[in-house]
Amino acid sequence: MIRVQNVRKSFYQGKLESKVLKGVNIDIKKGEFVAIMGPSGSGKSTLLQLLGGLDVPDDGTIKIDQQTIEKMKEKERTIFRRRNIGFVFQNYQLLHNLSVEENIAFPLHADGKLNQEGRQRISEMIEAVGLVGFEKNRVSLLSGGQQQRVAIARALVNEPRVLLADEPTGNLDRAKAEEILALMVSFHRKHTQTIVMVTHDIFAAGFADRIILFKDGGIERVISRKEDDYAEYLANFMA
Ligand SMILES: Nc1ncnc2c1ncn2[C@@H]1O[C@H](COP(=O)(O)OP(=O)(O)OP(=O)(O)O)[C@@H](O)[C@H]1O
Ligand SMILES: [Mg+2]
Repeated sequence: MIRVQNVRKSFYQGKLESKVLKGVNIDIKKGEFVAIMGPSGSGKSTLLQLLGGLDVPDDGTIKIDQQTIEKMKEKERTIFRRRNIGFVFQNYQLLHNLSVEENIAFPLHADGKLNQEGRQRISEMIEAVGLVGFEKNRVSLLSGGQQQRVAIARALVNEPRVLLADEPTGNLDRAKAEEILALMVSFHRKHTQTIVMVTHDIFAAGFADRIILFKDGGIERVISRKEDDYAEYLANFMA
């Protein structure tokens, strides 16, 4: 589903180059749930942005479902993103002044799909994330956990093939984090989306099939729960 080959990305401050991704290779299967962990500044969010077509690599190639992201024109990439990729961020990134319903409707609206079927989808999503009765509430007045549930509903309302989540539980306490993870896992099981989730939390990463350990712009190791040294290695890596 996702193939990343030799991807490089640098940012510049004047002439000073900072190499953020230094030749990354990843293959993620359809329906797989992958976590990415690694130190601050190691390039995790940068990679996620490239996977979602929010930016393009300097070198190398990214394919999502056989389609090459960096070959698309910007307009094409926007449409591809809207139809195929759902995003969830640590700080929710909702439209503060709009209601729960209006936020979830947004991707459908942008894609001209706010018809009867679309409206039906919105109510299904509101129910699935446990926000029935909050439809007309302004999102800025909701709790963090509730806001993240709105964000998940918005990310998934278009039934994207891929869900990209950048520290989706980073602002939540353990109980709320568990709720959000359970929600992601239940959608994942039901609709077999491919999920890539960046997290600092070993507990959150434990929900994933595989964990990609990132360090200094490259992959240090890919590890799965089945491996004997899983818990110990992870704890050491994150220490
Ligand atoms: N748009 C940008 N312009 C300039 N530098 C950037 C940009 N985006 C990221 N960087 C730099 O690239 C490096 C990697 O950033 P990135 O956000 O990918 O790290 P991260 O692994 O997600 O870190 P964290 O765990 O703190 O979120 C950092 O040094 C950051 O300052
Ligand atoms: Mg980040």
